Amino acid sequence: MKIEQAVALIKDKLPEKRVTHSLNVAETAVKLAEIYDGDAQKAELAGVLHDYCKYDDLGTMYQIVTSRGLDSNLLSYGVEILHGPVAALIMQETFGIDDEEVLLAIKNHTTGRAQMTKTEKLVFIADYIEPGRQTPGVEEIRELAYNQGSLDKTIYEISKRTVLYLISKDINVYDATIACLNYYNYSDERVKDD
Ligand SMILES: [Fe+2]
Ligand SMILES: [Fe+2]
Repeated sequence: MKIEQAVALIKDKLPEKRVTHSLNVAETAVKLAEIYDGDAQKAELAGVLHDYCKYDDLGTMYQIVTSRGLDSNLLSYGVEILHGPVAALIMQETFGIDDEEVLLAIKNHTTGRAQMTKTEKLVFIADYIEPGRQTPGVEEIRELAYNQGSLDKTIYEISKRTVLYLISKDINVYDATIACLNYYNYSDERVKDD
């Protein structure tokens, strides 16, 4: 899919604020791709499309998860995690996107996971630090991402903040998010940028 088509798709479906966020994520992912020698085209496409299903009807998303063979455990956690996997499935089946890295980046942007591909990392981080984000502490994450030279440390710090937030709200934490946290914990010597 060409980038213009992707932009037209989200403009057709998402409210203006979410379109702005999506374009910001794409632009940020491209910047990170330049710093970290990633694939800017894949990062941009996944960035534009990552929130395509953000406001989809919950019942429909539940049905897609159960009927299309997505991990049924997705349904046992905060509903915010569903729109990534559902969007990836729709992009593949309805819009014919077949690039595995693009699909994975869309799919896993809501949860993270261990052993992410470069494009997944770029989009996961860009979603957290795009210029419109004002989460407390986001500046520290921007500094890490842009100036400290480690995607993996940045992912760990984002996962840590996300998990702490979820716990503070008594929201259960999806397995892949815990796996992401553990995998990228750089206090553990096993972890190297990959
Ligand atoms: Fe999202
Ligand atoms: Fe997003």
